[in-house]
Order: sequence, then C-alpha cells, then structure tokens
Amino acid sequence: MPVETRLTSLETSVPPVPACAEVWPVSVLESSPLQPSTIRVGVIGYGYWGPQIVRNFSGIDDCKVVSVCDKSPEALRRLRQAYTDVEMTSDAASILCSPLLDAVAVVTPVWTHFELAKAALQNGKHVFVEKPFTSSVAQAEELIELAEKKKRLIMVDHTFLFTGAVKKIRQLVDEGALGELYYYDSTRVNLGLFQHDVNVVWDLAPHDLSIMDYVIRQDPEAVVATGEKHLNGLEDVAYITIYFKQSVIAHINVNWLSPVKVRTTLIGGEKRMLLWNDLEADEKVKVYDKGVTVKNGESVRQLLVSYRSGDMWAPKVEQTEALRKEASYFVECISKGESPFNDGVAGLRVVQMLEAADKSLKARGRMVRL
Ligand SMILES: NC(=O)c1ccc[n+]([C@@H]2O[C@H](COP(=O)([O-])OP(=O)(O)OC[C@H]3O[C@@H](n4cnc5c(N)ncnc54)[C@H](O)[C@@H]3O)[C@@H](O)[C@H]2O)c1
Repeated sequence: MPVETRLTSLETSVPPVPACAEVWPVSVLESSPLQPSTIRVGVIGYGYWGPQIVRNFSGIDDCKVVSVCDKSPEALRRLRQAYTDVEMTSDAASILCSPLLDAVAVVTPVWTHFELAKAALQNGKHVFVEKPFTSSVAQAEELIELAEKKKRLIMVDHTFLFTGAVKKIRQLVDEGALGELYYYDSTRVNLGLFQHDVNVVWDLAPHDLSIMDYVIRQDPEAVVATGEKHLNGLEDVAYITIYFKQSVIAHINVNWLSPVKVRTTLIGGEKRMLLWNDLEADEKVKVYDKGVTVKNGESVRQLLVSYRSGDMWAPKVEQTEALRKEASYFVECISKGESPFNDGVAGLRVVQMLEAADKSLKARGRMVRL
C-alpha cells in the first residue's frame, strides 16, 4: 500500500475523545501522598523521546510523574525496568480521564497529537505536547481556543529554545551585536532516523523554524520549499526558504540521507556574523566581526566595496540540559498560572510555516504566502 494511503487510514484510526465514564484508580498516589503543591503528570508515549520526558519531569522537585501510557508492551517493559514507582497503562483514557493528574505530556507520533491534547484539555489537564504541535493550522487553532476556554495552558516542546546556545544567540541579536539581520541559514542533516508518519520537513524543520521564530521575531511573509522522495513515499530531502519583510531571508536544509551529521546555523547581520555548530563540545557559538560596506564611488555606476575582517570570539554558553529546564518551566508556569513563551500560539506559528512548506513542496516550489 502506498505510504500516503496508509497514512490516511491511520489518521482515521486515532482514538476518539474518551467519555471518561470510568476513572482508573492511580494507586501510586494512594500509597505515597504528595504535597498539595506537587504537579502530577501523566505521560502518553514511551517510544524514543518519551523516556527523556519521563526522566526530566521525574527529576523536578515540585513534580511527580504518576502514570505513563504506551500501547506497546515492549515500551511498558522498558518503563518497568527503569521505574518501579510509576503507574503504567496501555490505555490513554486512564491518563486523560484521571482526576488525580494536573497535566498530560503527549509524546506520541504527530498525527495523534491533536486528539490526545484535545481530550486532555477537555478533561481539564494542562498539556505539554511534542513538536510539531499539530498536523494542521486548523487543529492548532482549535486547541488554542479550547485551552483558553478551559483556562489551561499548552506548552509545545521546542526543546532547542531552552539550550544555552539558542538563549545566547537571542541575547546577541536582541542586544544588536549582529546589527540589522540579513539572513538565517541552517543545516540539519544526517542518515535516518526515517519517520513513517511525516516527511523530513515535519520531522526536522520544527526545530529550525522554532529557533528562527524565537531569534528573528519577525512575521514571515512567504515560504518556498522544494524536496524529493526517494525511499518510502515521503520527502527525505528538502530545502525551505522563508521570506520576511525588511529583506531578511531564511533557508533551512533538512535531509535524512546525508552521510554525515551536520547541525550548523549561520546568522548574518550588518555588523557581525554568527556561526552555531551544535555538534561542537565547546565553543558552540562563534561571533565573527566580519562585514561588508558598500559606498557609492565618484561615478553613479561605481560602487566601493570594503570588507571588514576583525576578531572572532566564542561567548560562554550555559550547559544545563535543555529538556530539564523546559520541564521545570512548565511546572513553574502551572504553579504561577502564567502562560509560557513556547505556548500554543508559538506552536501555531511553526505549524503555519510547515503547512505552507508542504503546499509549496507539493507544487514543486511555488511560493506560498502566509
Ligand atoms: N523535542 C525533540 O527534540 C523531539 C525529539 C524526538 C521526537 N520528538 C517528538 O516526539 C514525538 C514522539 O516521537 P518518538 O520518536 O518518540 O516516536 P516513537 O514512535 O519512537 O514513540 C511513540 C510512542 O507512542 C506510542 N503511542 C502512539 N500512539 C499511542 C496512543 N494512542 N496511546 C498510547 N501510546 C501511543 C507508541 O507505541 C510509541 O511507543 C513526536 O511528535 C516527535 O516529533 C521530539
């Protein structure tokens, strides 16, 4: 069966929102009562990324991972080996319906995010949802509206926004160290991991788009994307260009078929240029005091171009694990009743660009306005 046909049938098999007639007892809480201020979290999905989420939420003082759900028995076996004090279940409804939980983390494939997050919000839970937020703009808008109605918060896991490197880059841009921005250019390529439900754009580009959105802080105007499918009917190589007002341009290269892993981002500005190599152990961010100045010469058609090549310096970058910081921030936002900066609206901005990129890809590079 072609992959696209298979996906359609999968999408229709997303479990319906549970009615929550029966609430499963969460015995872990009964045996060890928690402080009233402790945020009680249920996690749905314990595949590749779920264990990171469970480990990081479990490491926070004011938080307790009470229950974890995965429909795969193998995943639950791994969970039991790692944690003895966590309730486990193969039925998402027991987490979505439990009155003992304050929040639900949705760490399942992209096409399930909407239904699970919607059910969690409808049952009064705060939601931590993996990137990309949803499979469509319409779904993201519906969840944002529902969260407002239910007075619950949504946090979208854009993990890189909590890295020391991205925080430093945003600080440098905000302080004007680079001057007026010219371009943002990132490469995120490696061999695999092939996804079966989304193409390389929906898998890898959410990282770059969320970082770009956080650093540039301008509204994109249009997206052009080209790419090709080689192996499983989903684009595995793609090039995305994003146009902004004020002549800033961004380019994102994502590829599952690269022989080497590359994670670099170049940001060019009028005053300075910056290189972020996420694979560097130290000196991940380097700022180059390089630039170009163009002046008119004596005649109208003569341009005088001068190149400035000064020092390079590597600012100190905080090394704390990004996901731990993000998990703490989620718990803090719930406790204080504050809306996170990586909320549903931030997730929606990324989904808008992904949807536009997909439309452009299907039309072999036609410009799609946002
Ligand atoms: N923030 C990051 O850096 C980062 C990194 C990797 C993955 N992710 C995201 O995490 C999500 C999961 O990715 P993954 O690589 O862990 O996928 P995965 O396929 O390895 O794991 C998903 C797990 O969810 C389970 N599952 C699916 N539907 C379920 C349901 N209805 N009820 C219970 N369990 C269900 C599956 O059995 C599987 O074990 C994706 O949205 C992905 O984009 C984020």
